[in-house]
Amino acid sequence: MGDEDIVEPEVHVMQISNSFRLGSPEVFPPSERHVYLDAASVGLTHKGAAQAISNWQNALAEEGTIAFDEQAEVNCLDNLNNAMSELFNATSDDIAISSSETILMQSLAWAVMPPKGSKIIATDVTHPSTIYPWMRVAQNTGAQVHWIRADGRLTIDPDELEASIDDSTSVVCLSHVEYGTGQQYDLRRFAKKAHAHGAILVVDATQSAGQVEIDAATGVDAVATSTYKWLCGPFGTGVMYVSAQLQKLNPGIVGWRSHKNMWDFQADRLELPDNAKRYEFGTMAYGTAFGATESIRHILDTGISKITEHNRRVSRRLIAGLEDLGAEVLGPQSDADRSATVAARFPGKDSRDFAKTLKTANVIASLRRDFIRFSPHYYNSIDDIDRGISAIKASL
Ligand SMILES: Cc1ncc(COP(=O)(O)O)c(C=O)c1O
Repeated sequence: MGDEDIVEPEVHVMQISNSFRLGSPEVFPPSERHVYLDAASVGLTHKGAAQAISNWQNALAEEGTIAFDEQAEVNCLDNLNNAMSELFNATSDDIAISSSETILMQSLAWAVMPPKGSKIIATDVTHPSTIYPWMRVAQNTGAQVHWIRADGRLTIDPDELEASIDDSTSVVCLSHVEYGTGQQYDLRRFAKKAHAHGAILVVDATQSAGQVEIDAATGVDAVATSTYKWLCGPFGTGVMYVSAQLQKLNPGIVGWRSHKNMWDFQADRLELPDNAKRYEFGTMAYGTAFGATESIRHILDTGISKITEHNRRVSRRLIAGLEDLGAEVLGPQSDADRSATVAARFPGKDSRDFAKTLKTANVIASLRRDFIRFSPHYYNSIDDIDRGISAIKASL
């Protein structure tokens, strides 16, 4: 075959337009009105989620228990349970639903009761709701919180974190993604180390569920999340995965829903379900569970790896833009150690005043401690970031 016979293959490089939003404006209409970079505070709510909640509430207002009978109250969390088992690569038996991350974590902490003298490992940049439940129980049992301190850029050294896990450790309690800087931890690594020392790894996924993969097969022992941030659902719903081992413990919070047959109403005994549902204890704003199901289904249909990839592309653009403006970007540098959340300080600017200025310029971000936190999600485009960077530049 002569050279003239060689046919060059046609290479199609897929060009993603800068206006592309993975979560479309039909589903997230405000994404076109604002430069909304605040999912780490409250994600834009999926339109279908908001609708599902009001449908349920309106039906209840019109028909009471005709619309929501006893069987419906038993089954009303099933669809959310299925969606979350899929998201966490777990089984339906491993999932408990309640009204927030905090309440589920609190119940778990009292169930685990880290013993006197044992070490609960946490970072000093974790969210209060991740660790307060464990601190509260430690006050009673005599366990100690061992803090891993961040450096000046608010970064935790994962090697130091790993090295601190030893035979005196009972619980490693991490926020999968730190609320401030977006630092992300390798759950497999810390589950393995914790288990090697007879400890458990308990994870708050409120800043990660919906933006990065969470897989129960990493060996994590418990994962709890609220649904109003990266899952784009409502306030009022929390979900927790618990391993088979933790499904045998006695939950810290119990109520009528805790009994195997909740409609039994015999108060002189309590038989807990043999699965994670033992952490479900009472009524909640059930409509929010219908809403959360809608938004989580949309995330599953879109694909979590596509969301991670899209968000990474967008947040890289944001980091580059901020650095060009001379901002100090906090947290780890490498993609592997960070999520889409980006924290920055602007030299010579008071972050509190600057956050207000940005809001006036329709760049929606949050002041946290002494920095500004930007958190783009799958409904954002590169164009949003460019608009945001221009607005920031004009405000400096
Ligand atoms: C990591 C983390 N956990 C928990 C919460 C809040 O928990 P809850 O929804 O239970 O109040 C937040 C809110 O910012 C958070 O960032």
